[in-house]
Amino acid sequence: MPSPAMLMHLLLDAATRREQARVPEPTMAMTDAASTEAFMMAGREDGLLAHTYLYHAIQASTVIAPGARVIDLGCGPANQLAVIAQLNPDAHFIGIDASDSMLALAQETLQRCGVCNVELHKASIEALSDMNDASVDVVISTMTLHHLTDTAMLDAAMREAKRVLKPGGGIYIVDFGRLKREKGQAFFANDRKATQPDIFTQDYYNSMRAAFSLADMVNASGIFGAAVGIKRTFLVPFLVAIRSTHNEPLKDTSRRVAKTLYAALSARQRRDFRDLVRFFAHGGFALPFKPW
Ligand SMILES: C[S@@+](CC[C@H](N)C(=O)[O-])C[C@H]1O[C@@H](n2cnc3c(N)ncnc32)[C@H](O)[C@@H]1O
Repeated sequence: MPSPAMLMHLLLDAATRREQARVPEPTMAMTDAASTEAFMMAGREDGLLAHTYLYHAIQASTVIAPGARVIDLGCGPANQLAVIAQLNPDAHFIGIDASDSMLALAQETLQRCGVCNVELHKASIEALSDMNDASVDVVISTMTLHHLTDTAMLDAAMREAKRVLKPGGGIYIVDFGRLKREKGQAFFANDRKATQPDIFTQDYYNSMRAAFSLADMVNASGIFGAAVGIKRTFLVPFLVAIRSTHNEPLKDTSRRVAKTLYAALSARQRRDFRDLVRFFAHGGFALPFKPW
């Protein structure tokens, strides 16, 4: 359940008319050693973000058909990608990132998790010049769009996603939506301050400030037309998902692996997972399979 303080910030944001202007990230690709390390650690099985990675892995699996070729735009240290790849062992994944240091961490993650169905490439998601038109079955991306400089670059990334995707392909793109109040942004960044490195808190705050608005995301996703719907969390678009309308049945393997990963979460992580399930479900985006 959200704490009373969190609920208050959500309600205040929902009631606020004036929007805090966007403050772009200091850098687009993440290259700072302390930042990349902190982000990688937070995403590991024992980290703060493990529950969100399992959540998005289940949701993403509902757009991935058996044997699909899937591109992940801005894979970072591949903590998210490794979980999705584990849930879909018969699919083939291509992780793209502009940062050499992130790609090196991604390689470590894949080895540590024993994941063999992922290849990694250095590229910019707004210019996928090495990728042919209609060459992938699914496009996924998690928590990366807010790194793009402006809406022109956001549009360029969506154009590239559409170009490389086969007609009718699957889409699961999720990121923060910008809260309207700076106090709300600071609250979320600092909510777990005591349990995370200061650099992670600072980067979280930067991400909240750099998030695109819901309207920006809706505009950018317009290039996919009726092939996608916009999903969002309850009360405020704290998280926004651009998801293809087509559903793939969730595979038995995906269910089994998700259950195993859920069982390995700590009690705190499980509570966070269930809160996230409710946060999206009350916004109209249900999780199709509960791993408990
Ligand atoms: C916050 S991390 C998210 C990583 C991963 N998707 C996750 O959910 O854990 C954002 C990643 O996007 C990468 N990135 C930012 N802008 C990019 C661009 N224009 N092209 C490719 N990668 C980019 C950064 O280097 C970073 O690794």
